[in-house]
Amino acid sequence: MAKMEVKTSLLDNMIGVGDMVLLEPLSEETFINNLKKRFDHNEIYTYIGSVVISVNPYRSLPIYSPEKVEDYRNRNFYELSPHIFALSDEAYRSLRDQDKDQCILITGESGAGKTEASKLVMSYVAAVCGKGAEVNQVKEQLLQSNPVLEAFGNAKTVRNDNSSRFGKYMDIEFDFKGDPLGGVISNYLLEKSRVVKQPRGERNFHVFYQLLSGASEELLNKLKLERDFSRYNYLSLDSAKVNGVDDAANFRTVRNAMQIVGFMDHEAESVLEVVAAVLKLGNIEFKPESRVNGLDESKIKDKNELKEICELTGIDQSVLERAFSFRTVEAKQEKVSTTLNVAQAYYARDALAKNLYSRLFSWLVNRINESIKAQTKVRKKVMGVLDIYGFEIFEDNSFEQFIINYCNEKLQQIFIELTLKEEQEEYIREDIEWMHIDYFNNAIICDLIENNTNGILAMLDEECLRPGTVTDETFLEKLNQVCATHQHFESRMSKCSRFLNDTTLPHSCFRIQHYAGKVLYQVEGFVDKNNDLLYRDLSQAMWKAGHALIKSLFPEGNPAKINLKRPPTAGSQFKASVATLMKNLQTKNPNYIRCIKPNDKKAAHIFNEALVCHQIRYLGLLENVRVRRAGYAFRQAYEPCLERYKMLCKQTWPHWKGPARTGVEVLFNELEIPVEEYSFGRSKIFIRNPRTLFKLEDLRKQRLEDLATLIQKIYRGWKCRTHFLLMRKSQIVIAAWYRRYAQQKRYQQIKSSALVIQSYIRGWKARKILRELKHQKRCEEAVTTIAAYWHGTQVRREYRKFFRANAGKKIYEFTLQRIVQKYFLEMKNKMPSLSPIDKNWPSRPYLFLDSTHKELKRIFHLWRCKKYRDQFTDQQKLIYEEKLEASELFKDKKALYPSSVGQPFQGAYLEINKNPKYKKLKDAIEEKIIIAEVVNKINRANGKSTSRIFLLTNNNLLLADQKSGQIKSEVPLVDVTKVSMSSQNDGFFAVHLKEGSEAASKGDFLFSSDHLIEMATKLYRTTLSQTKQKLNIEISDEFLVQFRQDKVCVKFIQGNQKNGSVPTCKRKNNRLLEVAVP
Ligand SMILES: Nc1ncnc2c1ncn2[C@@H]1O[C@H](COP(=O)(O)OP(=O)(O)O)[C@@H](O)[C@H]1O
Ligand SMILES: [Mg+2]
Repeated sequence: MAKMEVKTSLLDNMIGVGDMVLLEPLSEETFINNLKKRFDHNEIYTYIGSVVISVNPYRSLPIYSPEKVEDYRNRNFYELSPHIFALSDEAYRSLRDQDKDQCILITGESGAGKTEASKLVMSYVAAVCGKGAEVNQVKEQLLQSNPVLEAFGNAKTVRNDNSSRFGKYMDIEFDFKGDPLGGVISNYLLEKSRVVKQPRGERNFHVFYQLLSGASEELLNKLKLERDFSRYNYLSLDSAKVNGVDDAANFRTVRNAMQIVGFMDHEAESVLEVVAAVLKLGNIEFKPESRVNGLDESKIKDKNELKEICELTGIDQSVLERAFSFRTVEAKQEKVSTTLNVAQAYYARDALAKNLYSRLFSWLVNRINESIKAQTKVRKKVMGVLDIYGFEIFEDNSFEQFIINYCNEKLQQIFIELTLKEEQEEYIREDIEWMHIDYFNNAIICDLIENNTNGILAMLDEECLRPGTVTDETFLEKLNQVCATHQHFESRMSKCSRFLNDTTLPHSCFRIQHYAGKVLYQVEGFVDKNNDLLYRDLSQAMWKAGHALIKSLFPEGNPAKINLKRPPTAGSQFKASVATLMKNLQTKNPNYIRCIKPNDKKAAHIFNEALVCHQIRYLGLLENVRVRRAGYAFRQAYEPCLERYKMLCKQTWPHWKGPARTGVEVLFNELEIPVEEYSFGRSKIFIRNPRTLFKLEDLRKQRLEDLATLIQKIYRGWKCRTHFLLMRKSQIVIAAWYRRYAQQKRYQQIKSSALVIQSYIRGWKARKILRELKHQKRCEEAVTTIAAYWHGTQVRREYRKFFRANAGKKIYEFTLQRIVQKYFLEMKNKMPSLSPIDKNWPSRPYLFLDSTHKELKRIFHLWRCKKYRDQFTDQQKLIYEEKLEASELFKDKKALYPSSVGQPFQGAYLEINKNPKYKKLKDAIEEKIIIAEVVNKINRANGKSTSRIFLLTNNNLLLADQKSGQIKSEVPLVDVTKVSMSSQNDGFFAVHLKEGSEAASKGDFLFSSDHLIEMATKLYRTTLSQTKQKLNIEISDEFLVQFRQDKVCVKFIQGNQKNGSVPTCKRKNNRLLEVAVP
C-alpha cells in the first residue's frame, strides 16, 4: 500500500509563530514574547525566513534522535516545525542537488549554543550523507577533530563551561554524490591572554588540566610535571574543577581523537611537551638586581625550572636566560642591547608563553587540516561551518571585543548583501517589480573600522608603527581627529564636540554605534595588543631549540632570515583573515543560525527577558526580520498555496481543474483581498503583509471546522441511514420469523383443540353407539333367554311324561361314561416313560377307579417290560436268563449276590483258545467251554490254597494246573451232587461229589473264587440241561465236606480281621475247617 502523503506545513499547530516574519505587529516586545512562548513549550528553534534562531535549552531535549533525522530528511524547509535539522537538510540538499556551495553561519554570545549547533549540523550531515568504509573514516576524522580543538581552544568561563576561545571556520568538502571527502579548518583569534591569566571564576584552556589529571605518572615524569595544579602559576585555582567534567577521561578521549585524526605518537608527545613547557614558563620568577648604571636588571630567581624547561625543549639554558634579561634592538645595521627590568622580564615571559601556545594551536589546526584534507583533486562542493562569537558588549570592552564586533559587523554586512541579493534575484526570477526597501545598511560602520586610509584599524596600525612615544591615548587622539565626523563614531574629545557633555562617555574611551547597538571601547591596551610583541631574542632562542616542533613554531627567529620589517599587527592580520573569510562566504549560499542564551545561570527553563532582549538587539534580529520583510513578508508556490486554501472558495473546492496560478487568482478575488496586498510571481504568490496570511489561515481554520462539521454531518447521516437500513432489514427478518412462529403456534393450538374436540365428539359418538349396541345386545340376550325359557317350558311341558320314568338311570350312565371317557383320555396324555424301571404312575382321579388304575399300571408295566425284552438279541437273552437264574438262586440268600448283579457273566475268563500256553489243555478238551477261570483250591489238609484253572464244559468239570495247563482232575457233571456256600460275603464254595464215584475218591472240592455267583449259576444251569436234575445248592454257614474218609465241617465265622479284607481259611482240626469272613 502506498504510504499516504500527509501534507504538513510549518503553519500547522504553531506555537506563537514559527517564523518571525509572520509576527504581527512586529516589535521587540512581541518578538521576545513569541520566543518565550515557544521556549516555554520546548520549541527552541524559530525561523526568520530561512534564518534559524536557536535558544539554548541548557538540557538535553529529545529532538535530535535518529528518528528526528529521518523526519527532517528530504522534507521541505517549511514543512515541519522549525529545527536546526531543517536548515542542515536544506543546506546539504542544495549543495548536493543544486551544486551550490553552502556556508552555515552560527553566531551568538558565549554559551548561546554555537558550538553545539555546529556539531548538530555536522552530525546531521554525517547521518544523511553517503555511507561506506572510506566515507565513514572521513566522517570520523572530521568529527574527531572537534575534541582535539576543544581541548586546546576551549576553556571554562563564567558564561560557559566549555567556551570556545577561538573562532572556527570549517569547510567540509563533498564529491558530486554528496559524500564527504575531507575538510579545511581555519581558526581566528585565539584568546591567548588566557594562557597567562584568567578572570575570576574561569579556567585556563582545558588541555592543561586534562594533562595533569589524565597523564600517567610515567608521562608526567617525562614531561617533568607534577600532578598538583597548585604548583603552577598559570593555572587559576579557584575553579580548577568543573562540575560534571572528568578531565582525566577527557584526556583519554583527546588522545584517542588525536590518534583517529592521524597524529603520530611522537607528534602527540611533542605537543604535550610544548604544553608542559608553557606551564613551566609560568613558574619562572624574576628578581631585581641593581646594575652599575643605576638601572635595575632582572635576574631569574630559581633556575631549576628554567633548567627543566631547557631540558624539555632542548634549548641552551644560557641562551634562554639571556633572552629573559636582555633585549636586542636592531636599527640600521646597529645592534643595541638593553637590559630588561623585572616588569619587562615578566612581560617577555608571558609573551613567550602566549605566543608558544597560540602558535602551537595554529600548528595543531594545520596538522589536523593536513590529515583531513581531501585526497583527490576532483572538483569539490563545499559546506562551510562558521562558529564564531557574536557581538560582545561588556562593561569593559577592549581590543578583542573591537575585533570581534568588527567581524560580526562584516557578517551582518554579508547577511544583508546576500539576503537582499537573494530577495532581488527572486523578484527578478518571479517577475515582480522591485521596489525600494527601507533597511539599515551597515556598510558605513564596516567602512569606519576597516577603511584603509582613515579606518580605525588603519589608524591603530599607523600609531603602532609611528616612531616616537606611542600610547593608547595618542591613538585615541588620532581617532578623535580622523573619525570625528563619522556618524557612528562617538568620543568625548572628538573634533566636533557633539559629545562634550555626554557623561556616559568616559575620556579614555570611544564608542561605536554598531548595527546592533552602541559599544563603548576602552582604548587601554589597544596598541600593545595590536603590536603583539615578542622580543626577537626570545624568538631566536626558541628557534635554536633542539625540539623540532618548537623550532618550527618560530621561523622568524632564524637569523638568516632576519627581517627588519615588523611582523603584521594583530589588527591587520585579523582584517586580512576576515577579508578572506568574507570573500569565501560571498561565494557561498549562506544559512544562518542565531544562537540566543536565555539566562546567565546555565540553567534550564529560565528565560531572562532582559538578557534575551539584549541579545536580540546586538544580533540585529529585528533588523533581520525587517530586511526579510522588506518587500513581501510571505511567499509560497502556487500549488501548495492553492492546496492549502482551496476550501475557501466555491470554484476551487474541492477540485480546481485549471492551472494553479489561475486558481489562486480566483481564490484571492473571491476572498476580496486588496490587490496591493499581494503580487503574482511566475511560480509564487507574494503576500506583502503577514496579516493577510493570518486572515487566510483564520478563514482556513474556520472553513476546516465547517468542513469537519459537514463531513461529520454527512458521515453521521450516512451512519444513521445505514444503521437504520440495517435495523429495518433485521426488523423485517425478525418480524417474518416471529410471524411464522406465531402462526405455527396458533396452528398447533387450533390443531390440538380440534383434536380434543374431535376426540370428545368421537368418544361421545362411540359411547352412544356402544350404549345402543349394549342395549341391543341385552335385548337380544333377553329375547334369547326368554325364548329359551319359553322353549324349555314348552319342551318340559311336552316331555314331562317321558322324562320322569328313565331319566335318573340314563343320566347316571351317561355321566359315568363321560367320566371314564375323560379318565382314559387324560391317562393317554399322562403316560410315564417306557423305561421298565420308571416307577412313576399318574395319580388316581376317582376312588371308584382304584383297581382299574392299579391294573392299568401293571398291564402297562408288563407291556413296557415286554417291549423292552423284545429288543434283546439271543445272547442278551441268555445273559439275562443266567442273571435271572442267579437271582432266583441267590437273591436274599447270599450276601455276595448284590455285588454280582452289575458284573456281566463272561464265562471264559481265561482265553484258552487264544493263549498258546494252554494249547495242550485246549487240545485235550473237545467240548464247548462254559467256564474257564482261575480259582483257589483249598488244600484239604491245611486250608492253604493253590491256584487251579477251573473249566466247565457241557459234561465235565475240570481242574488244571495253572502253569502247565495239565489236567489234574476231571469230574463228570453227573457226579456232582451238591454245591455248598456260606450266606456271607465270601467266595468260598464246596463241590460235593457222588459217593462212590470215581471222582469222589479224593473227596469233595473246596474252592474260593471271585466269580462265585456266576460259577454256581452256570454249574446249576449246565447240570440241569445235561442231567435234567436240579443241582442242590446249599447255603449255610456250616456244612460238611467229605475229605477222603473224613467228614470235615466247614464253618464260617464273622469278623476275624487278620488278613484285611480277604477271607482266610484255616484247618482247625480233623473235623473243622474255619473260614474267617471279614
Ligand atoms: N541544543 C542544545 N541542547 C542542549 N544543550 C545545549 C544546546 N546548545 C547548547 N547547549 C548547552 O549549552 C552549553 C554551551 O553551549 P556552546 O555551544 O558551548 O556555546 P557557545 O559555543 O555558543 O559558547 C553546552 O555545553 C550545552 O550544555
Ligand atoms: Mg563555542
